[in-house]
Parts: sequence; C-alpha cells; structure tokens
Amino acid sequence: MQMKDKVAIVTGGGSGIGQGICLRLAQEGAQIAVFDVNLDGARDTVKQITKAGGKAAAFKVDVANAEGVNDSVKKVLPKFGKIDILVNNAGISKPSKVVNITGEVWDSMLNVNLKGVFLCSRAVIPHMKERKYGKIINIASILALRGSSYYAHYGATKAGVVAFTQGLAVELGRHNINVNAVGPGIIDTPMAEGDVNSEFRQQLLKVIPMRRIGTPNDIANAVLFLASEEASYITGQCLYVCGGWSASAGLM
Ligand SMILES: NC(=O)c1ccc[n+]([C@@H]2O[C@H](COP(=O)([O-])OP(=O)(O)OC[C@H]3O[C@@H](n4cnc5c(N)ncnc54)[C@H](O)[C@@H]3O)[C@@H](O)[C@H]2O)c1
Repeated sequence: MQMKDKVAIVTGGGSGIGQGICLRLAQEGAQIAVFDVNLDGARDTVKQITKAGGKAAAFKVDVANAEGVNDSVKKVLPKFGKIDILVNNAGISKPSKVVNITGEVWDSMLNVNLKGVFLCSRAVIPHMKERKYGKIINIASILALRGSSYYAHYGATKAGVVAFTQGLAVELGRHNINVNAVGPGIIDTPMAEGDVNSEFRQQLLKVIPMRRIGTPNDIANAVLFLASEEASYITGQCLYVCGGWSASAGLM
C-alpha cells in the first residue's frame, strides 16, 4: 500500500484517465477527493472506490472557475484533514482546423486545460507549503511535443501545461513540493472515442511502437510513481507515456 494515509485531489476524476488515476491511487490506500464538473461521473468513481473498501468523496467543480475551485479545496480539508497530492487531469479536446476555431472554443480550451491547472495548483499550494510536503502532477499530452492538424489549440494548451510544470517545480522545490507532468499518447477513454474513428485508430497502431492504444491504467501507474517517495528527487519533468510514439521518427 504505497499511498496509505495519503489524500489526493484528482480533477476530471469522473471519467477516463482521471477515473483510472482515482481507482489506482485508492487501490494503494489513498483517500480521494474526486473533482469533476460532471457530478454523476464523480459519484460513480466514488461508488467504485467505496465498494472496494476505500474512502472518497465527490465534488462538483468547474476547474476554470476560481471561486468554485477555492471553495471546494476548503471543503476537502475538514473532510480529509490534509492534501498530499493534486492531480490536474481535467481537460477538453475539440478537434478543429485552425480557421474554424471560434474565439469561444479557443478561450474555453485555454480556460479548462491551462487556467484550470493554475487555479487548482494555486488553491492547494499554501497548504502544501505549510506542511512542507506535496506532489502536483499535471496531465499534459504528446501533443505538447509534436504537432497534429485539428489539435493546434489543444497542443498549445498542453505545451503551456509542461512550461507551467517546469516553472512551478522551480518555485516550489525548496518547499519539498514535487511538480511533474505525464504526457499520454492515445489512451482509450470517452474523449479519444469521440475524437478518433476506428479507421484512424488502425492507422495510429502502425506508428505506435508498442502497437496498442494505451489504457487509463497505463497513465495511472505513471502518476502513482510520480506521487510516490521513489520519485522524491524528480521534479519539473514530463514523463511521456505513449507506447514509444514520442520517440519515433514515424517510419517503421
Ligand atoms: N484520451 C487521450 O487519448 C488523451 C491523450 C493525451 C492527453 N489526454 C488528457 O488526459 C486528460 C483526461 O482525458 P480523458 O481522455 O480521460 O477525457 P474524458 O473526457 O474521458 O474525461 C475528462 C473528464 O474531465 C471532466 N471535465 C471536463 N471539463 C471540466 C471542467 N471544466 N472542470 C472539471 N472537470 C472537467 C469531464 O467531465 C470528464 O469527467 C485530459 O487532460 C486530456 O487532455 C487524453
């Protein structure tokens, strides 16, 4: 039980990768505050954790809303007593050619994927500093590193997440707070299901060295490692978990 007595907030914990992270951390003994704009999804995650004997609570939170984020973090403290880990996972993808991206879509993508990471981090930092302990793990994407048509705006938010991770890691290292990112390749979740049809999936399998689409658990295992004491000297890094895709020149 690597996470016994640890308390984690996981944003976007009601679906896909976020749900996988909640279940994996809970399996290792962590207590989980599941933050999601979709309360039903968050409750489903809590149900799965409590059924397995763990402790968790659901919070309806829009990570792009500063007031809502601050209020929810304040509610976590009396309920769980502390916050050891924050996983900034909530995100949206609205694939589109750049000429068709409206100002509203651009703003909402920045607000959820990047501002949300800032707002949630800002809300937990004073508490982590006070305890001289904390792990902040941000979910970026392989698209922070490589371009793809339909994803220029999404990739820009994720590159921002990686840069924010580095800056925050430098700022918080002296307070014994580790800040890292995980950059997934393509992972089987409702988001990917909506974005990628089966024909495109077959094409992707030809360029992913491990020849399979990733699972939420693949990402959760990387998050678990970065949240563990084994990773206590790792900070400011982005670990790409993508079946080798980010290492490939594309010719196989
Ligand atoms: N699935 C992939 O292939 C893939 C690849 C790279 C990166 N990612 C990233 O992983 C993260 C999780 O993606 P997923 O595939 O599990 O997606 P998903 O759509 O299955 O889950 C995202 C969750 O975030 C929640 N959410 C959305 N907006 C929110 C907001 N404003 N406030 C709070 N919660 C909000 C949703 O309700 C949902 O529960 C995202 O940051 C995504 O960009 C996913």
